[in-house]
Amino acid sequence: MSLVLDPAAQDLLFREARTANTFTDEPVTEEQVQAIYDLVKYGPTAFNQSPLRITLVRSPEARERLVQHMAEGNQPKTAAAPLVAILSADNEFHEELPALFPHFPQAKDVFFSERPAREGAAALNAALQAAYFIIGVRAAGLAAGPMTGFDFEGVRKEFLDDDHTPLMIVNIGRPGPDAWFPRSPRLAYDDVVTTV
Ligand SMILES: Cc1cc2nc3c(=O)[nH]c(=O)nc-3n(C[C@H](O)[C@H](O)[C@H](O)COP(=O)(O)O)c2cc1C
Repeated sequence: MSLVLDPAAQDLLFREARTANTFTDEPVTEEQVQAIYDLVKYGPTAFNQSPLRITLVRSPEARERLVQHMAEGNQPKTAAAPLVAILSADNEFHEELPALFPHFPQAKDVFFSERPAREGAAALNAALQAAYFIIGVRAAGLAAGPMTGFDFEGVRKEFLDDDHTPLMIVNIGRPGPDAWFPRSPRLAYDDVVTTV
């Protein structure tokens, strides 16, 4: 009664959405990824800094290179998923800030002239955007399989550069057979929420 979002949408995004470990062969199209991005780009970030970058791994040759950097248990999923995305944080996001935060263009120099400050902000805000992205994948009727079980430095060197920090790798597609274990329990409200 307290939620205004349509109950079917609540189920699609959260209650019935699962982290998929297997996928069907149905491709994930460029149009679907664009629709997902065009939805989730509105999720908030500090100063609207929007540091998330997404690398779609589409060619078989790139997929093979990526699988080599995955933890052993993640390799079959990454090899078989219809689409795999490398999510990273752009530590040079401040270059876009005058355009992205036009009512305070000085933010670039006042807060983000030093690389360590940028790295901290980029890690937090790109992680927020990664979460929005996962929910966006679900909004497209697809399942996401986010993973941090991989060689971060290896992936950075293979696909990114010194200015980008890998965050997670996400398998995307329609769930296949036996796509998940039974749902694990979640912490209860009283275990998590305190009021002061
Ligand atoms: C940031 C992140 C990293 C994860 N890394 C891995 C991973 O490396 N390998 C894996 O099998 N599952 C990984 N998972 C999947 C989680 O275990 C899974 O999302 C969680 O248990 C909830 O499952 P459910 O959505 O089916 O309820 C990861 C999930 C997230 C969000």
